[in-house]
Amino acid sequence: MLGNMPSYTRPISSRLPQVGTTIFSVMSALAQQHGAINLSQGFPDFDAPAELLSLLDQATRAGHNQYAPMAGMPVLREAIAHKVQALYGASYDVDAEITVTAGATQAIFTAVAALVHPGDEVIVFAPVYDSYGPSVALQGGKVVYATLADPDYRPDWAQVDALITPRTRMIIINSPHNPTGSVWTAEDMAQLEALVKDTDIVIVSDEVYEHMVFDGARFESVMRYPGLAERSLVVSSFGKTYHITGWKVAYCLAPRELMAEFRKAHQFIVFTVHAPSQVALAQFMGKPGWYEQLKALYQGKRDIFRQALSGSRFELLPCQGTYFQCVKYGAISDEGDRAFVERLTREHGVAAIPVSSFYPGGDDHGVIRFCFAKSAATLEQALERLVKL
Ligand SMILES: Cc1ncc(COP(=O)(O)O)c(C=O)c1O
Repeated sequence: MLGNMPSYTRPISSRLPQVGTTIFSVMSALAQQHGAINLSQGFPDFDAPAELLSLLDQATRAGHNQYAPMAGMPVLREAIAHKVQALYGASYDVDAEITVTAGATQAIFTAVAALVHPGDEVIVFAPVYDSYGPSVALQGGKVVYATLADPDYRPDWAQVDALITPRTRMIIINSPHNPTGSVWTAEDMAQLEALVKDTDIVIVSDEVYEHMVFDGARFESVMRYPGLAERSLVVSSFGKTYHITGWKVAYCLAPRELMAEFRKAHQFIVFTVHAPSQVALAQFMGKPGWYEQLKALYQGKRDIFRQALSGSRFELLPCQGTYFQCVKYGAISDEGDRAFVERLTREHGVAAIPVSSFYPGGDDHGVIRFCFAKSAATLEQALERLVKL
């Protein structure tokens, strides 16, 4: 059968020569192959709320099955505007300043495609979420890396200052941060605000973990800071908030001038997003108490995870937010992080992500990332295995 498959024999000049299959797909496949507990990829192993699933069913039966408007269903944009007003005191115009996207990944890609010209520089912070660099590279932009150093992965603002040049077009930030679970403070936001003041730098703020900030800390959205909000495209994702990563529905907020440019690209990248999901989410978003219970849910899981591993040979790094826990394993093995997670998966039945995959040069600091967005039973089983190492 394989012999009849067509194959392309001409040379291909790749636009992304460095990019292979993402480590998330690789580790999930390895976990499946070895029947390991998958704490690698960032998704919950428990289902979305039943009520949300019913609302989706109702939305399809009520006939919301044709193209939604390009910017998103008005009812969902209204619910988003209401949310950010209530949580962050931010006012965004429903018609001109909010767009529903097919996931945060698409929103970030679209923001970059809309605003970055060939040769423009875009500053990101390494370890960095894997989609940012390729999004910039595909537009012919140059990715400039600032560093977040372990153990606490705080930004070094003097370094960021030194990286800014007249070609800097954009800074992409992400707090709470994947993979490290660090959360930026009000002081960080003030530093960023001061650095970009009087420049033409646009900020893309990836806030997909906005509701997972622990220990009573306040989430410092760029929306709380007028000097940042005026130049920011803010991205959040329903996937993280409602346990529906497979729905791929997210949104972007920006001042109308920036949003007009964003939409020019959005309409040709995806045009419009799955309509019934939007109707269901708009109805579900009104539910009181969701964000608080989500925070409590994940803080509880983080505490169980840390408590169990505190007596192990893993060294726990701080985790102030997200559903990821990073650890050092130097007391267990001197293998590289990729080799270590592969062996962990094969021999001990728990899959994790090597943090070197979040660095452009694959820098290996002996740190791996576990996702604790898993049921109590899954976590218990995984922890039982990990504490024995
Ligand atoms: C920091 C960060 N940004 C964006 C995304 C992608 O979100 P979505 O699934 O909505 O595209 C993820 C998913 O893991 C993420 O961790």
